[in-house]
Amino acid sequence: MKRLLIGAFAALLTVGATATLAGQSEDLQALRDYMQNRFPNLAFMDYANGSYALDAAKATQWESQRDFPPFLDHLDEGEKIWNTPFTNGKGFSDCFGSDPSKVRVKYPRWNAEAKKVETLEGQIVACQKANGEKPLKTKKGKIAYLSAWLASQANGQKINVIVPQNDPGAVAAYEAGRKFFYTKRGQLNMSCADCHVYNSGMQARGNLLSPVIGQVTHFPVWRGKWARATGGKDGFGTLQRRYDGCNKQVRAKPFKNQGDEYSNLEYFHQSMSNGLTIDAPDYRE
Ligand code: HEC
Repeated sequence: MKRLLIGAFAALLTVGATATLAGQSEDLQALRDYMQNRFPNLAFMDYANGSYALDAAKATQWESQRDFPPFLDHLDEGEKIWNTPFTNGKGFSDCFGSDPSKVRVKYPRWNAEAKKVETLEGQIVACQKANGEKPLKTKKGKIAYLSAWLASQANGQKINVIVPQNDPGAVAAYEAGRKFFYTKRGQLNMSCADCHVYNSGMQARGNLLSPVIGQVTHFPVWRGKWARATGGKDGFGTLQRRYDGCNKQVRAKPFKNQGDEYSNLEYFHQSMSNGLTIDAPDYRE
């Protein structure tokens, strides 16, 4: 039965044309225009609320969840992790600078020397390794608490992912991420864009599909689904953990967490929320 429903849903999809565009700012403009046309009554800032911005009844449920944020203790733990010195006496501030409110907005970014996209979680781990510490796992647990606390310190600042157009490596990484987003995969043969662009605002198996714009403002996220799997104890997960979930939905194999595919995807994906305000962490179903 489940399969049938999915099949019917997949068959309804519009086959979207993915014209090759000139670059990040053109992509951003094209997506904003597309969404504005699709959701004429949605204000730009409301995209940060994902599917809740599109459904008043869901929004009411969500608001009541938010009245009692389940993640405050985890945020405190994140702060503690930030302030705990490494065995060598140094700490995270030696890698990221002493002002924790300035960290979240720097990532993801292109490192021209290393020729790769750096994500916040990837750099947390790199910092630990450089200091002889045991690196944290990158999907959930402590890394999500630390990343969520850092994001919370940046609340009110705007997402502004920069792709230096004069650096061919940066442009290639962005293009690879963009291609990932628009490439069909998995047994269902669907792309991220099939669900989060061309079918945004539609129902898929009881879920209202959020538009790609605004999907990253509140990460790491506390998901009811993830919390239930731990008996309510820990619902936190990083953005790349969420990518796994969506890849599983189309029965595609997840990619390596913090590997080039996901980090390039993150580079493109986060930049499509440029201009939106960070409001993290937050609750999602
Ligand atoms: C079969 C449809 C489908 C595909 C394909 C899909 N997703 Fe999703 N995605 C969902 C559903 C359903 C949700 C939960 C409801 C929502 O927020 O859209 C979701 C949620 C998300 C969220 C969380 C949004 C939030 O506000 O917290 C992110 C981020 C995301 N998807 C990214 C992706 C990326 C990147 C891809 C491609 C790798 C992808 N999705 C592919 C169905 C899909």
